Amino acid sequence: MTAGTHPVALITGSSSGIGEATATTLAGLGYRVFASGRALENVEHLRGRSPSLEIMEIDVADEDSVRRGVQRVLDAAGRIDVVVNNAGFAIFGAVEDLDREALRRQFEVNVFGAMSVCRAVLPAMRRQRSGCIVNVSSLAGRISPPLLGAYCASKFALEALSDSLRVEARPFGIHVVVLEPGATLTRFPDRAMAESANVLANTDSIYASVYRGALANYTTPSTGVSSKDVARRIAHIVRTRHPAARYRVRWYDTLALALTGILPQRVLDFGVSRWIGLQELRPGRQRNSQERNGARNS
Ligand SMILES: NC(=O)c1ccc[n+]([C@@H]2O[C@H](COP(=O)([O-])OP(=O)(O)OC[C@H]3O[C@@H](n4cnc5c(N)ncnc54)[C@H](OP(=O)(O)O)[C@@H]3O)[C@@H](O)[C@H]2O)c1
Repeated sequence: MTAGTHPVALITGSSSGIGEATATTLAGLGYRVFASGRALENVEHLRGRSPSLEIMEIDVADEDSVRRGVQRVLDAAGRIDVVVNNAGFAIFGAVEDLDREALRRQFEVNVFGAMSVCRAVLPAMRRQRSGCIVNVSSLAGRISPPLLGAYCASKFALEALSDSLRVEARPFGIHVVVLEPGATLTRFPDRAMAESANVLANTDSIYASVYRGALANYTTPSTGVSSKDVARRIAHIVRTRHPAARYRVRWYDTLALALTGILPQRVLDFGVSRWIGLQELRPGRQRNSQERNGARNS
């Protein structure tokens, strides 16, 4: 980068939440930000938010859209210093209820999308001999609770690919970093509910009774950081000279992960099963609860 020029950042999924907060935060720090959305109208509200912020369309599930978007940034700015692979969503549902199409849709955005963006920007970063790619994973990229299998699998995959890419890209001066936020207060749960409507509406599912109560635990987190907190973490990462492989946003996320490494799996499984209500599906329990319901109704 020549003196006086602004570093250039491309962010995916900038229409709301973490992506939007990251776009405005980096623009405020003097980055020339290309805030991309799946459709242009989804990021229209960011237009004019800052003189150094431009909106553009990138649907990460569409390889051509990714290629066109990255080329547009390079044509306009001549370089890309930072990429934040933020676009992502979740599909809820027990593994047995997730058909091939649901899994494919989940991976299409969270994994294949992020990797398409990486592949598209790497040649330019290599020419520059510098660059920083932040892949927004999740605590769900390290632990996989029930009813979140598709989402967790996608984030585990993103982490695995990031681990390989980090070492492959390092000789060219490119940093690849994974960020693992915990619960963050965005519209993410509402979006997940909408994306999972088909799965959750299946009344034939053996898990139908669990879905009703359990998803409330996931969709209304009692605590969580703000998208601005996550954006500030991303800003810290991209301005760090030698970033670590992984970051979390809050110390208690690190503690939670450490605890899952210490506690016996059997204890963790039992706790989460009770929390979600899966214990109620045990044959004896089902009979008891049917009897309780029968007695109540008679
Ligand atoms: N919220 C949390 O608790 C939490 C925790 C850990 C990690 N994360 C991760 O953080 C990232 C951002 O989530 P968020 O919480 O900010 O939720 P959000 O407000 O729903 O933002 C998700 C973004 O991804 C975009 N997106 C979805 N599919 C896309 C596609 N095909 N192409 C381009 N953009 C697409 C959405 O765009 P549209 O407006 O077009 O839908 C939206 O801008 C995700 O990767 C998520 O997995 C979230």
